[in-house]
Amino acid sequence: MTMLEKLTRTYDRTLGWGNGGFGIGYYANEDEKVPKRFEFEEGVFELLLQRENFFNWHYKPNDYPEHLEQLTRRVTAPQELRLAFFASGRGSNVDAILENIESGELDASPKIIFTNRNDAGVINVADKRKLPLLIANKRIYKDHCDDIILGLLRDFDVNCIVLAGYLKKISPKFIDAYPGHILNIHPSLLPKYGGKGMYGSRVHQAVLDAGDAVSGPSVHVVTEGYNEGQLLGQRIVEVTEEDTIKSLSSRILHAEHKLFTNVLIEIQQGRILL
Ligand code: GRF
Repeated sequence: MTMLEKLTRTYDRTLGWGNGGFGIGYYANEDEKVPKRFEFEEGVFELLLQRENFFNWHYKPNDYPEHLEQLTRRVTAPQELRLAFFASGRGSNVDAILENIESGELDASPKIIFTNRNDAGVINVADKRKLPLLIANKRIYKDHCDDIILGLLRDFDVNCIVLAGYLKKISPKFIDAYPGHILNIHPSLLPKYGGKGMYGSRVHQAVLDAGDAVSGPSVHVVTEGYNEGQLLGQRIVEVTEEDTIKSLSSRILHAEHKLFTNVLIEIQQGRILL
């Protein structure tokens, strides 16, 4: 029996789904995902049920197996997160994540902050949160910047790098040292409005110019191309007719502060596998 067949059986039995879809009552008040865990020899899997998936399922009962596949994900044991942060600006995302660690919402150990700018707001965040900080740029360290940062990442035993408004391109050395473990936040619903030169207000201007009804931040894995790595999470923000770059970017920033922590929680809990 394939894993999918096993899941299908469990699924039917557990939730009482049949040819007619499953009961609307079950989902009528359910906006949040409802995970169900199943342990098979192949690993532990979790069903991810969301309101929109219900409608898909409901209207296309014959697509059952494909839908099931979309609705499952492999989960692992909880992961320890030892974080380094890279930021070039304000650092409000770094601060929000640190706040959520301090409050106990996110189980992670922040280790060190790096910035490439000696006037970055994130320097104050490091101060406030009492974390080690290194200002690493060419003016100070010439061509040794990357090696110095990599050495510190090793010394601090970091296993996940969080890029939050880091405007310098990450060199392949980092990607080789931390494959799949470097995450970035981008203020648009990727793959829209990503890529070289798309950052800050340019992103929001493009959304407004296109007349999009929704925008919102994305968290993705960093690869060598700009904003091309696997998407780990997005949050929808509505765009209104009155929106300006300022109003839209401020709502999206607010959503970023929630999204980044939520993605890190999912990683820590073994629901997103890096
Ligand atoms: C955010 O809008 C983020 O999406 C982008 O850079 C900005 C960083 O803001 N990558 P902050 O420094 O975290 O306040």
